[in-house]
Amino acid sequence: MNIHNTIIVLDFGSQYTQLIARRIREQNVHSIILPSSISVQEIIEMNPKGIILSGGPTSVYDNNAPQLNEAILELNIPILGICYGMQLIAKHFNGKVVPAEKREYGKANIEITNKSLLINNVENNSVVWMSHGDYITELPKDFSVDAKTENSPICAISNANKNIYALQFHPEVAHTKEGKKIIKNFLFDVCKCQPDWTPANFIEEAITNIKEKTKNRKVLCALSGGVDSSVAAVLMQKAIGENLICVHVDNGLMRKNESKNVIEMFEKNFNLKIIHIDAGELFLSRLKNVIEPEEKRKIIGNTFIEVFENEAKKFDDVEYLVQGTLYPDVIESASAGSGSHKIKTHHNVGGLPEKMNLKLIEPFRELFKDEVRQIGELLGIPHEFVHRHPFPGPGLAVRVLGEVTKERCDLLRDVDQIFIDSLHKFDIYYKIWQAFAVLLPIQTVGVMGDARTYESVIALRAVNSTDGMTADWYKFENEFLEYVSNKIIRNVTGVNRVVYDISSKPPSTIEWE
Ligand code: XMP
Repeated sequence: MNIHNTIIVLDFGSQYTQLIARRIREQNVHSIILPSSISVQEIIEMNPKGIILSGGPTSVYDNNAPQLNEAILELNIPILGICYGMQLIAKHFNGKVVPAEKREYGKANIEITNKSLLINNVENNSVVWMSHGDYITELPKDFSVDAKTENSPICAISNANKNIYALQFHPEVAHTKEGKKIIKNFLFDVCKCQPDWTPANFIEEAITNIKEKTKNRKVLCALSGGVDSSVAAVLMQKAIGENLICVHVDNGLMRKNESKNVIEMFEKNFNLKIIHIDAGELFLSRLKNVIEPEEKRKIIGNTFIEVFENEAKKFDDVEYLVQGTLYPDVIESASAGSGSHKIKTHHNVGGLPEKMNLKLIEPFRELFKDEVRQIGELLGIPHEFVHRHPFPGPGLAVRVLGEVTKERCDLLRDVDQIFIDSLHKFDIYYKIWQAFAVLLPIQTVGVMGDARTYESVIALRAVNSTDGMTADWYKFENEFLEYVSNKIIRNVTGVNRVVYDISSKPPSTIEWE
């Protein structure tokens, strides 16, 4: 049972489903995405203030179209259908939905014809974002047409008595100028929500729940120093104090001084005791002669488990493992079809809980990364630490292309530090989602002074993204590129060429391996 005002977003496969959940949370209302196949009973148990039916890629008449459990429409809970969600509503209430000759995609202007609670204060003729194949030609019974556009004469409908609203366009997309207002209207005017989902409330509740769950037993935390595990550790410490055991495994693949800085930060700010395991040599010995990216990833994952497990065995009264799993990870793994291709084996602490018979605590299972960052700041973790760029579990091993040796890692560490320091110097570090350097496994000819050089090439990568699933390369000023390239080549022995990666994801990935 939820103690919050919750809005359920039922997922019919739209690429915008996560965005709907985000937009709701931005209004300080809790939202949760659930599969469209969820049972009515489960919905009732969650006691939501409202339900949103997402868009979806199919036509409601396709054989394999995800269907709505139509009893949901009779629960007397306010409903908002978006695009495909609208067509499901129309179909249920005997309206007519037909395939359009041409898919409507892009901007349109809406004309408000009836001021329903959902759109009463929306500016007339404002831009909305359309992306649909089917459309409604006959109004469902007892519904009114509230808005139209040039190509969609029925573009917003409602049945105020039943508290059911539906839109052909996407209010969650930034192109819909009044989208935020529409979502707000749904939350506060239609569903009568209270804005009670705040980072401070989250922390308070999480602490109560964790205390209740762990009941004075010991909890282990694999503290990498990344944002998610760091915030999880501090939250856990607030909840259970001395019962938290943090273990930091230095795999020798970290950035320059990373382990030292992480441990100092926690000791200084939180008096958090961390068991530091220096396993650099072991990891590097296992990686000797390995160049295949997936093999590197597997070796690192397995070695991590082995090292961590050896340490954890020393505490025989541990019952839980805390992980900083985020909401997009949960949704990804829940929706990944069995036919999907494995692109990369991501290394987290996966595999550990089962192997060691530990129960999991995942305080951020329902949060997005920027929400975790807000919580981190509220818990007193320094801003610059909480807003650091993401860093992959296998560390520099997937950025040192070819064989991973200590010398090659050291070289890359020096380059990486110059790159990151330069981003700070030009005041662009926080404008970029992730930036790093890659050491290529080739040598090129250069000239330094009067002498020929034959040295390594560095590729710089900088991208913007919201969740790492897609990414766009960052458009640096030439002045910056010139500065950073000169600085790297002049200061790092062994590098005579710097190139900039201008590929987006897809079709590339963010990391090179
Ligand atoms: P890719 O290279 O798959 O990366 O486009 C997407 C994001 O994930 C990070 N990444 C990882 N993070 N363990 C992690 O925790 C991993 O094994 C891993 N591999 C890639 C990558 O840095 C980027 O932010």
